Amino acid sequence: MDRRRLGQSDLEISVIGLGTWAMGATVETWGHVDDRESIAAIHQALDLGINFIDTAPIYGLGHSETIVGKAITGRRDEVVLATKCGLLFPQRKDQLPPRCLKRDSVVRECDQSLRRLQTDHIDLYQCHWPDPETDIRETMEALVELLRLGKIRAIGVSNFSCQQMSVAREYGPVHCLQPPFSMIHYRAAEDLLPYCESNDIAVVPYSPLAKGLLTGKFGVDDTFNDVRGRDPEFLGDKYQRNLHLVTTLQEIALRYDKSVAQLAINWTASFPGVTSPIVGAKRPSQVVENAGGVTWSLADDDRAIIDQLLEDHRRAC
Ligand SMILES: NC(=O)c1ccc[n+]([C@@H]2O[C@H](COP(=O)([O-])OP(=O)(O)OC[C@H]3O[C@@H](n4cnc5c(N)ncnc54)[C@H](OP(=O)(O)O)[C@@H]3O)[C@@H](O)[C@H]2O)c1
Repeated sequence: MDRRRLGQSDLEISVIGLGTWAMGATVETWGHVDDRESIAAIHQALDLGINFIDTAPIYGLGHSETIVGKAITGRRDEVVLATKCGLLFPQRKDQLPPRCLKRDSVVRECDQSLRRLQTDHIDLYQCHWPDPETDIRETMEALVELLRLGKIRAIGVSNFSCQQMSVAREYGPVHCLQPPFSMIHYRAAEDLLPYCESNDIAVVPYSPLAKGLLTGKFGVDDTFNDVRGRDPEFLGDKYQRNLHLVTTLQEIALRYDKSVAQLAINWTASFPGVTSPIVGAKRPSQVVENAGGVTWSLADDDRAIIDQLLEDHRRAC
């Protein structure tokens, strides 16, 4: 598996990463999840040369980090480990996670993650979402101090705008951005990707399969009780248009003897400015299929056809 440098850090990450949100989740969030399969999926990823693993405290309120920690025991040196701070555990089930990027909270969260991950350092430590109540200067000073102490190796931000990154970079290095980006979540291409490319900031997009929509496994009659049921891409006319797009993409994927998931991953991973898409998986077979998304090249004329398809799709939505 090829590797790419993570921005201006000295870390090298595989051209796809493994996302572990679903591995920590409850049935209401991601349907059936099995810890043994999750650990086997992480091992499968490492065996295939996927060294970049992304987690967060909020994924299952510590459960995803705990599973990752168990899985990488004895293999820590094979992993570029990414986790996050800034979304606190809600007090009630119906409450959204409160945002907090205050200095003491960031430092406390880092120590808690280190314990759950059973490690003495986090390679990439990311602000999960901007916190409008905290001056980013305070957050960056805390992160720079964690870098100095060797508790983290690189600083990342997720769901930040270009303007928010520019302000953060006044107070310390931002090595990496984690935005949503896929064939059907295209907004990052308009400003974030060019901004990061011109400032040598790595981009590790999340949800490159649009929560499984771009795998081609869903049909017109499917209904969703998990996180997908609350996502507009899985609802009404939009869902039907997305299914139509997936069917058309499937025809192109077949020409390469690939699945539509592999096509979607290939398209994202080879998009200018993208360093390594973070692909979520729950079991080893999904990891194997997804790894097959980056071992081949899409011809320029097919890429042009896809780009036109996506533009038409965006206009229709
Ligand atoms: N920073 C942020 O705010 C943020 C937000 C979201 C995600 N993330 C990160 O990005 C990662 C990936 O995003 P994501 O999990 O939302 O979405 P994704 O990568 O677009 O989709 C992952 C889901 O699709 C299904 N899947 C994966 N490979 C498959 C295959 N080959 N065949 C069939 N189904 C397959 C699995 O769920 P099922 O088996 O249940 O279908 C899997 O959990 C997360 O795990 C997390 O690390 C970050």
